This record gives sequence, C-alpha cells and structure tokens, in this order.
Amino acid sequence: MISQRVLKMKKSAIHEMTRLSKQFEDVAFLSWAKPTSGTPEHIRQGAISAIQKGITDGYSPTDGIEELRKEIVAKLHRDNNIKADLSEIIVTVGAIEGLAAAVMAVIDPGEEVIVPTPTYSTHIRQVILASGKPVMVPLIEDKEFTWDIERVKNAITPKTKAILYCSPSNPTGTVFLEQELRKISEIALANDLMVITDEAYEYFVFDDHQHFSIGSIPEMKKNCISTFTFTKTYAMTGWRIGYVHADQEVIQHIRKAHIPFAICAPVVSQYAALAALQGSQECVKKFYQHYSATRNLMCERLDRLDSVFSYQRPGGSYLMFPQILIDEGKDSVAFCKRLLTEAKVSATPGRAFGPTGERHIRLSFCVEEEMINKAFDRMEVYFK
Ligand SMILES: Cc1ncc(COP(=O)(O)O)c(C=O)c1O
Repeated sequence: MISQRVLKMKKSAIHEMTRLSKQFEDVAFLSWAKPTSGTPEHIRQGAISAIQKGITDGYSPTDGIEELRKEIVAKLHRDNNIKADLSEIIVTVGAIEGLAAAVMAVIDPGEEVIVPTPTYSTHIRQVILASGKPVMVPLIEDKEFTWDIERVKNAITPKTKAILYCSPSNPTGTVFLEQELRKISEIALANDLMVITDEAYEYFVFDDHQHFSIGSIPEMKKNCISTFTFTKTYAMTGWRIGYVHADQEVIQHIRKAHIPFAICAPVVSQYAALAALQGSQECVKKFYQHYSATRNLMCERLDRLDSVFSYQRPGGSYLMFPQILIDEGKDSVAFCKRLLTEAKVSATPGRAFGPTGERHIRLSFCVEEEMINKAFDRMEVYFK
C-alpha cells in the first residue's frame, strides 16, 4: 500500500530524540535547531492588525501578496546582491516547501542530486520524495568542512541533475567561501546542473565570515534556485513562511509544484513577514549578538572537554558538529541515548546528517547561556 519512495525514507533521528527526551524531566536541551526567543512584538502586531482588517481570510495570489514580494525583491538586491524581478519570487510555506517544490520541479525519477555530507537531513529526504537519488559527497572536516571540489567533479554522472546545499550549514555551522561557491558554479555551468540553495541562516555569520549567494553570479541566472526563510532571521518558526527565487523560465515550473503543495503560503503569516521586512531590524541584530555569545561560550565549554570532543569552530548558523573522540562515539545514536538517560543532556546524533555524520553530535546554541552551562556542567561530571 505504501510507495517505495516513502518506504526508502528512514525514521528521523531528530524526532526520535525529541520523543525520547520528553520522557525525562529537567533535560538540558541542545538538540533543537529552532530559535528559543519568541517572534518580535511588531511582527506579531502586523499579523494581528491584518486579521482585524479582515484581509487574511481568503487565499492570496499563488505567488504571495505583491507588497511582500516587492519587499523581498528589495531585500534580495540589498543583502544578497541578487537582481530579482517581482515575477521571479514565490512566497512559500517556509523554506522547506520552497525547496520541496524546487526539487519536484527539477528532478525526474532516478536522477542524481549531489549533496554535501554532513548536511541537513530534510534535503536528503526531499530528493528521495521526488524519486531522485541523493549522492553524498563528503566535506573536508579538517578544513572546517569545506567542499572537496575534485570529489564533486568525480561524483558527476550522466544522471546528475542538481547540487543542493545549505550555507551557513545545518549541522556544521560552515559558511562556504565565495571562492568555493564560484568553483561550484563553474562545475554547474560546465555540466548544465541546477544549483539549489538553502540560505536559512544567512544573517547569522560570525567573525570575518561572509555569506555569499551563488544566485548573485549573473551567469548562474538560469542554473540557480535560491531559497530563504523568515524562520531563523525573525524567530518565526511556527509561522511557516519563506520564499524562493529563480529565473522566470524556471520559476514558472516551480509554481506548478507549489500549487498542489500549498496553493499559497498562509496569508496571516505573509502579513507578519511584511511587518518583519518593513519594521526595525534591531531584533535581527539582537539575535545575532546572542548567538555570537552563545557560540563563544559553547566553544569554551567544549575546550574543557577536549578528551571527549574535537570540533570545528562554526562560522555561522547556530549549530555545531563536534566529533566524538571516545570509543562510545562509534554509534552516535547509542551515544546520544546514553547521554540523555544518564546525564540528562539532549543532543542530536550525527548519523542523521549523512554517512560522514556518524561519530559526531549536533549541538545547538540558539538557547540561553544557562542551558549551555547546565548541559556542560552535567557532561563534565558524566565524562570524568
Ligand atoms: C538548513 C535549514 N533549512 C530550512 C530549515 C527550516 O526552514 P523553514 O522553517 O523556513 O521551513 C531549517 C530548520 O531547521 C534548516 O536548518
């Protein structure tokens, strides 16, 4: 009764850990990749006033309300150096629906999509859901999880159709360098591949790292689909609102996939997103400062556990991906289960992020400093 493509999808280790964590009291949570702060008040008010005006009860145009799309065009121009036209934007149900519609629009059954490993597990599932084949190309961990360009080239076959990545990365926190992404674009153009990006953490980039949108390269116009979200930037996880940009020739086909998934993005959330883009950006700065401080704290606390973990300092996002040095780390799922039951610390097993994720845990620093200290105080006792 059940399709092969869904049967091929493994149970999510992330959701499994969340379910298990709920069985314990007073857990120190470092396993959730969602902002713990609430949505800023002026954004909530934008939604409330739209409800009160009675303009949120029906569908919006499939692509989203024009006012919002105009703001998105201005933002893409200003912050991503992407010269988008209004007709090239679709507002989606989070970045996730934009990505799913993009993958559906590009991938035929049996076609291959190159994804770096470790990577965000949802990308792998989306390719499987489109009956495509994810081809995992390991990143170079010792070099801060950078692309192995030769391996990417060698992974290309006549069936390769696309490259799909997130930067800044979930789970590693890597911000891919402009020069690396330019090489990826050269490979894409030489082999006529589509590059699909997930830029969910674009505003959370630390030190001298810089976020680069591959869609800003003029030659990539017809070979790139870029997805973005309000989820992380404005702590709007539950509003389910994001957007996708692609050239007109491509976006018209993404639209065909978007309609049966969603018809349109939630209209009330579109008005909240409008308030987010039109209002003060102080909240983004505040989130940034918070994550920057919690990243530093998490790195300091990891330094004190250097016989248990080694790590690459994350350049962006609010996630990091330490390697487990002790023997028990061979099986990251068993390791995380023990950490939860015996130390009451919840982390995500690295195996969820592709084959090279094993022997790692993903830790999230979008929490209060007290949560990080509580988790690490417990781990210091546990690993003594
Ligand atoms: C890389 C990445 N992309 C997308 C999402 C989810 O985005 P949205 O809520 O906009 O669908 C997440 C959430 O954890 C993520 O880590």
